[in-house]
Amino acid sequence: MPVRIDFDMPTKKSLIRKGVIIVAGLGTRFLPATKAMPKEMLPVLDKPVVQYIVEEMAASGITEIIFVTSSQKRAIEDHFDRDRDLERFLEERGKLDRLQPLIDLCKNVRFFYTRQSEPLGNGHALLCAKEFIGDDPFAFSDGDSIIDAVVPVTKQLIDVFVKKKASVIGVQRIDDKKVMTTYGNVYAKSTTNKKLFAVERFQEKPHESEVSPHGLIVGGMRYIFTRDIWPHLEAQRQGKDGEIWLSDAANSLTQKKPFYALEYDGQYFDTGNKIALLKTAIHFAKKEGLM
Ligand code: UTP
Repeated sequence: MPVRIDFDMPTKKSLIRKGVIIVAGLGTRFLPATKAMPKEMLPVLDKPVVQYIVEEMAASGITEIIFVTSSQKRAIEDHFDRDRDLERFLEERGKLDRLQPLIDLCKNVRFFYTRQSEPLGNGHALLCAKEFIGDDPFAFSDGDSIIDAVVPVTKQLIDVFVKKKASVIGVQRIDDKKVMTTYGNVYAKSTTNKKLFAVERFQEKPHESEVSPHGLIVGGMRYIFTRDIWPHLEAQRQGKDGEIWLSDAANSLTQKKPFYALEYDGQYFDTGNKIALLKTAIHFAKKEGLM
């Protein structure tokens, strides 16, 4: 089912107009499928994973998206570009509606690309977009998580940013402590809004006895960052597995500046491994009445 995006909304002057999506990882869990094809282009039904994320940003008022890519990811550039021959071909046969949502997306969002020459971690990938973003606040997403929500999650985070003028992360709340040990946990103070928390620190995969008392975890990376993140990213050394992690830089930022966590309304779907991708496809197939 085509997603309807209110493209008039950005003209109401969204405070956040730039977004970063990182897609430079190797996707080794999907080899050999991802040898010559980006894992972010794997389809969930008839749409690549990354298009769900771009649609979420566009529906949140983002009008400029920079992809941090690598040499195997050219298909992403082709996907978010017009193909006039194909459009003419489809139009002649009355089938243009199949492509129309993507055409609208390409008309309303400007896409930019930069390369991460080695997959040195998600924090390193974001740093590659620094010159493009400059001092502006911006939205950030990884390239392989879909969040199905009535109000796009990026929009929910922007609404918090507008009120607080501080960085914000989207989080989920769960109560299974064992499951919590498999995620990044967020330790935070409550605020007067029961879905909004003031972050004190992040911890990756803590022991069961040390999980977040509020049950807050990070599944699917969605952030709004202010320019304050840059020095913390630049100062990051290699962390776990020798990579530069965004969560380490975010952790360091929480020690210096207000940082909020919003328990968003929406359902998170990982697409980074085979079973998760299959479950995601089943969810959307049911939603579209196909099963
Ligand atoms: P993952 O670690 O899940 O993706 O990163 P991966 O490394 O591509 O997958 P596997 O583990 O080898 O199967 C989540 C997102 O962050 C991006 C990935 O492209 C993916 O969208 N990423 C990760 C980067 O852009 N650069 C990196 O250095 C690491």
